[in-house]
Amino acid sequence: MHFELTEEHLAVQEAARDFARNELLPGVIQRDIECRFPAEEIKKMGELGFMGMMIDPKYSGGGMDTVSYVIAMEELSKIDASASVVMSVNNSLVCWGVEKYASETQKEKYLKPLASGQKLGAFALSEPEAGSDATSQKTEAYLEGDHYVLNGTKNWITNGSNADIYIVFAQTDQSKGHKGISVFFVEKGWEGFTPGHKEDKLGIRASDTTSLMFTDVKVPVENRIGEEGFGFKYAMETLNGGRIGIAAQALGIAAGAYDLALAYSKERKTFGKPISEHQAIQFKLADMATTIEAARLLVYKAAWLKDQGEDYSHASAMAKLYASQIAMDVSIEAVQIHGGYGYVREYHVERLMRDAKITQIYEGTSEIQKIVISRGILR
Ligand code: CAA
Repeated sequence: MHFELTEEHLAVQEAARDFARNELLPGVIQRDIECRFPAEEIKKMGELGFMGMMIDPKYSGGGMDTVSYVIAMEELSKIDASASVVMSVNNSLVCWGVEKYASETQKEKYLKPLASGQKLGAFALSEPEAGSDATSQKTEAYLEGDHYVLNGTKNWITNGSNADIYIVFAQTDQSKGHKGISVFFVEKGWEGFTPGHKEDKLGIRASDTTSLMFTDVKVPVENRIGEEGFGFKYAMETLNGGRIGIAAQALGIAAGAYDLALAYSKERKTFGKPISEHQAIQFKLADMATTIEAARLLVYKAAWLKDQGEDYSHASAMAKLYASQIAMDVSIEAVQIHGGYGYVREYHVERLMRDAKITQIYEGTSEIQKIVISRGILR
């Protein structure tokens, strides 16, 4: 068993760390205040190869493994979880499924610009009444000649107003339940398709989360991915990998909050000595460091299993469940160690604490992860 990172992993880590410190950190507080999408930063992340890391270079991707991807996600999330969720959705919810299941023609048309970062993707599964219960899709697509007619509303869509290419799930045969769900490419600007309300969120405020409205949108038959009825399977398979990305994001939020708390504890003095010399703070730091290390092992293990071609649905659910819990715990403690300073924007930890919460909700709530894990145990 080896725990060492390869030369390539270390190079990815350094590149992501440098980018986060030099390009993301300077504007991160202001973007959070203004809910401003990191458009320039995401463009640069595309140029550096962060938007399609695991995709074959023949489709303009980075050809890297999942371990490299989680390493990059951790580093970027230490500084800016809004930018990292944009990256995560594009990599694992959009590019991955397209590479695995789309036709060659579709890959030429859609995967190349997505993986190179020229275009941005979104994954439109959730609906006002279909979140955790993802099979209850109300969006419908019925066939009319050489195209489908798409009607419905999606909710909570990351990159909702900034994406160019949308992976959209819809019922093509209501009578078949989840086996009647299909999946399509839909492009920004098509008649009848408009991004709707932008959510005013607690955290990851610089990423855009919107609803999407489809009214009689004509979707060419050749834009369906796979056969009719394949959509739910496609969504579940894609989310298995997406959850590794969000687990890595949660790990990064925890590690970022811990780094700040550790540094602060060595500077801040009370009762005549740095607070790091008080056992109350030392025990907090010990707990934070231990849980972060445990989360990292779970995240790397899930990524490694995926790279080995093994089943990773169970491992990715465990990684997300645990990493998102410790992202909350560690970021709350980081605020506590900072005292009053932790409660103001300038010290970053309050933002990390707000950002942490969503990792327990999106791409399957913690309760959904427990369903996936317990089904894995009991099957
Ligand atoms: N991997 C592969 N296949 C899976 C699967 C998994 N993890 N979970 C279920 N399936 C398959 C089953 O094998 C079954 O297939 P067959 O019909 O061929 O047997 C089919 O899917 C239906 O499965 P279930 O009967 O188990 O379905 P269910 O209704 O009981 O629900 C669920 C399963 C796990 C709860 C699922 O609905 C789920 O994961 N819900 C959460 C959805 C979610 O994560 N949404 C996040 C939205 S995306 C987002 O947040 C993106 C963003 O912008 C950041």
